[in-house]
Amino acid sequence: MTQTLTLRRPDDWHLHLRDGAMLQAVLPETARDFARAIIMPNLVPPVVTSADARAYRDRILAALPEGMDFTPLMTLYLTEGTDPADVIAAHASGLISAVKLYPAGATTNSASGVTDMDKVQPVFEAMAEAGVPLCVHGEVTRNEIDIFDREAVFIEEVLDPIRRRTPGLRVVMEHITTSDACAYVKESDGSLGATITTHHLMINRNHILVGGIKPHYYCLPVAKRESHRAALVELATSGFAQVFLGTDSAPHTQANKESACGCAGVFSASVTMPCLAQVFDDAGALDKLEAFTSLNGPAFYRMAPNDETITLVKGDVLEIPPQIETGDGPVVVFDPGTSVLWKVSG
Ligand code: DOR
Ligand code: ZN
Repeated sequence: MTQTLTLRRPDDWHLHLRDGAMLQAVLPETARDFARAIIMPNLVPPVVTSADARAYRDRILAALPEGMDFTPLMTLYLTEGTDPADVIAAHASGLISAVKLYPAGATTNSASGVTDMDKVQPVFEAMAEAGVPLCVHGEVTRNEIDIFDREAVFIEEVLDPIRRRTPGLRVVMEHITTSDACAYVKESDGSLGATITTHHLMINRNHILVGGIKPHYYCLPVAKRESHRAALVELATSGFAQVFLGTDSAPHTQANKESACGCAGVFSASVTMPCLAQVFDDAGALDKLEAFTSLNGPAFYRMAPNDETITLVKGDVLEIPPQIETGDGPVVVFDPGTSVLWKVSG
């Protein structure tokens, strides 16, 4: 007997769409299953002002194939020159849904990010007053800090101090990868949310490094040891209201991934919903999947959940398309390396 699961249509609270030919190719992969997504602003050059965000939103909407229904939720890239008034006006008009903090040098295209948090404190204060969420890439960048410790150190040295000195600031700790981050969000009040990616629920650092280096599993924050992955699965499948899906689906061409200095990013948009159904099924928590993908995110962002639904069907092993073609070259699709028995019907 086939098993089916119908959920409210999901949203993706952290997505990279890029621009130009890449945008054109990857946008349908998300819009097929997701109603809305928080769009990352780390283009080159980044989306810094409300004028940049408006122009980028228009390019996304122009790239959306006829008949697909999808709403991009725009963000601004925080720099030490960001004007608080521009942020507040852009949020009040509905143009942007959040501001993104990249510590300078933390990841792909983060060179214009923030080095001195004191310089952006006036922006944080204005955002706290207006209720604008701050999305945070939570890793310190100091060379002496081991890459596997950078998230835990960030919580203690950067994130917790920002939250203490800015009461009311609503923060999303993005793509959490550690049990430390799970514990921090669980003990926080409702002003802190966290997103978890599909791939961090399915892979640990062995997937990247054992039996040969696997560049398509490399992303930032890098996947940690198995006990951390287990903590992420436990939190995601618990239904905890402050935690929701942010795929961090981040396309890079195959050539840029399979390189002596490969780019960070896992492209999971095409297979995320089947993969998540498998993770929640394996955890005996299919009844919590809708909260994670479709309810908790809108509640945090103070939006209504979607009225439409999506149906998943359990049956044969999902055939994962090895790659999608783009005008910039092929992009390899995330393959968890284990059988996925779910697919999106229709
Ligand atoms: O793996 C990642 N890829 N992590 C990020 O933070 C950025 C992203 C990208 O833009 O490729
Ligand atoms: Zn990202």
